[in-house]
Amino acid sequence: MCLAIFSTWVRQMKLESVEALRVHKQRFGLEGRAFGAPARVNLIGEHTDYTGGFVMPMAIDFATVAVVSARNDGRAVFYSLNFDEEVSFELASLGRTPQGHWSDYPLGVVWSLAQEGITVSGFSMSLAGNVPVGAGLSSSASLEVATAMALLSHAGQELPLKTVATLCRRTENEFVGAKSGIMDQFIVAGGVAGRVMLLDCRSLEFELLPLPAEVRVVVCNSMVQHQHAGGEYGDRSDEVTAGQEVLRRERPGIELLRDATLADLEACKDKMSAASFARCRHIISENGRVIEAKGALLRGDVGRFGELMVEAHASMRDDFAASSPEVDTLVEIAMRQPGCFGARITGGGFGGCTVNLVKVDKAEAFVEAVRSEYKATLGISADCFISAPTDGALAMAAKGGVQ
Ligand code: GLA
Repeated sequence: MCLAIFSTWVRQMKLESVEALRVHKQRFGLEGRAFGAPARVNLIGEHTDYTGGFVMPMAIDFATVAVVSARNDGRAVFYSLNFDEEVSFELASLGRTPQGHWSDYPLGVVWSLAQEGITVSGFSMSLAGNVPVGAGLSSSASLEVATAMALLSHAGQELPLKTVATLCRRTENEFVGAKSGIMDQFIVAGGVAGRVMLLDCRSLEFELLPLPAEVRVVVCNSMVQHQHAGGEYGDRSDEVTAGQEVLRRERPGIELLRDATLADLEACKDKMSAASFARCRHIISENGRVIEAKGALLRGDVGRFGELMVEAHASMRDDFAASSPEVDTLVEIAMRQPGCFGARITGGGFGGCTVNLVKVDKAEAFVEAVRSEYKATLGISADCFISAPTDGALAMAAKGGVQ
């Protein structure tokens, strides 16, 4: 059965945290404190973040919960309810030694906090989550941020949003070894209920914008998994970096791709590979679309916003070569439905989810129709969720956490 969920994040968080608190007490013999982090969906602005560009994500109603309590043997002990697996490390001898295991994420946060000058004493941590893995909804950022919030509380520290996001990104890039920008960690930490975020990934300044009441955001999972560490994301990022290097060298005043125009890129076409040219064209045009999308949102022009999403999808598919046949099919099906303003791939790409902007009174029917047409076309049952923008981890903690 399809889950059509609207604004149930707090309830989900509570369910996850009640179970995690119970299991934690049973396993470690102590009451723990629970901290949560949501998932995210990006409305527009894909692969722009690691070249200082613009993105427009919102936090959504899935949750990772980290329950923490102290221990006095100098160890970091993580228990995953999802994997029913416990791992233990001696904090004094902790290095940068990822194992290619789920524990790299929470352990990497311990390492990254130390880079920030925050060392933690022994702790037990129970982790539980319902963010779909490999779906492009930031399960890893959610795990990192939930862990960071729990460990900061354990260490008696508070950090501002920018620092929390930056240290969690460092976990991903430098400990886990996956290339990524700042978007996921920033929105998962800093989301605000009822608002989408326009984030400038160079300055980390942001604006919170309301979604017009006449629309709903629907997330559809193609059920084709994407793989983040290494692989195609890394290849794309390398192609982009190579193109950016050429622009930096050839065009005075360009520091990041964000500073370049399509005319700059055209002028350097012969100096870079065809792949780098196409990837950079996607990013430069995408930055323009995000800014235009902000204007459309503020005017309440959901029609124009939807058109920009469709253009963004074509650009991700053709110039960035980061879609998949299944996701393209989902987008085509979505755009045939009444009340659908726009549909596009969301997140890193190569599978994962689409994000759709749908008229409020058509959203339920949209979910049913997309599911049944996708099943009839490809034989795959897609999960579809009607999602409202929810609070990020900091706002949740400020409202008293998830207990
Ligand atoms: C992944 C990365 C983000 C961003 C998106 C693409 O989600 O973690 O930093 O680059 O892909 O927009």
